[in-house]
Amino acid sequence: MVQNSICQLFGIQYPIIQAGMIWCSGWELASAVSNAGGLGIIGSGSMYPAILEEHVIKCKAAITNNRPFAVNLPLLYPDIDKHIETIIKHQVPIVFTSAGNPKIWTQKLKDQGIKVVHVVSSAKFAAKAEAAGCDAVVAEGFEAGGHNGREETTTLCLIPLVRKAVKIPIIAAGGIATGRAMLATMVLGADAVQIGTRFVASLESSGHTAFKERLVALKEGDTMLSLKKLVAVRLVKNEFYQQVAQAEASGASPTELATLLGRGRAKKGMFEGDLVEGELELGQIAALIDHIKPAAQIVAEIAAEFETAKQEVGGW
Ligand SMILES: Cc1cc2nc3c(=O)[nH]c(=O)nc-3n(C[C@H](O)[C@H](O)[C@H](O)COP(=O)(O)O)c2cc1C
Repeated sequence: MVQNSICQLFGIQYPIIQAGMIWCSGWELASAVSNAGGLGIIGSGSMYPAILEEHVIKCKAAITNNRPFAVNLPLLYPDIDKHIETIIKHQVPIVFTSAGNPKIWTQKLKDQGIKVVHVVSSAKFAAKAEAAGCDAVVAEGFEAGGHNGREETTTLCLIPLVRKAVKIPIIAAGGIATGRAMLATMVLGADAVQIGTRFVASLESSGHTAFKERLVALKEGDTMLSLKKLVAVRLVKNEFYQQVAQAEASGASPTELATLLGRGRAKKGMFEGDLVEGELELGQIAALIDHIKPAAQIVAEIAAEFETAKQEVGGW
């Protein structure tokens, strides 16, 4: 496996990063991926400050050989300053910020010796992240699960655009679940991959079992980008999604959509397993995933398939 700029930056074996995901990526998943040679991320978006601290402590205790891990900080949620206190107090080595302005927190984190990566969905924002001093960017395409850019730029188009725009390492995200897809994005200019949906269907993910089972049953076309007037997010087309689609078709305002969304929808769907009324965030690649597996096996399979694919392509 390549030992490239991202492996050196983070001190990891494989340039495979498990995405931070609200309600799905706690310390069990993050530590399993880091112990398997990738980089595990605790998704703090769904956590109160005391809960994040508990996850950080447990993650550190579960990780062997001083391997690194990271925390994802979606900047649109409250409690960011308290989360940052926890990150500094427990010497979390890497932070992935998302959904906000990288200018605000990057320098403070870097002053503490923390590596900072920002998630973007366009070349323009990648350049801004580089200017803000980020060590790398995650370039996340339209296929991805979770919140997404409004421009609908696919991973295939986004990676070369970002490659042209910045010099810092690029981590490709959106639609990647296999070693072949990993190789493809690296041919396009990425240095690593960030994988979300594939890791939701892992034993260690904290997503509800019913949510994981729905994931492995999904087919092509079963997810759609939704709520573009509010915060664009890719959702499974369940009953809640249909309510949103009807409201959008009849011209609902952002305020009306916010009322329909209400509070706690994502928790209800992904953590509590309400597949009807809950918000179910998943990417298009769910259609390719048909088994729930241990996270370490997912990392090993992706790394092995990457090597096989590289050799096959080398013979062309
Ligand atoms: C269930 C779920 C929750 C997510 N939550 C977050 C989050 O809290 N913060 C974030 O930056 N991205 C979040 N994302 C996006 C992922 O970090 C990642 O970039 C994306 O899943 C990659 O695309 P893929 O799902 O096709 O692998 C989430 C994705 C999923 C599937």
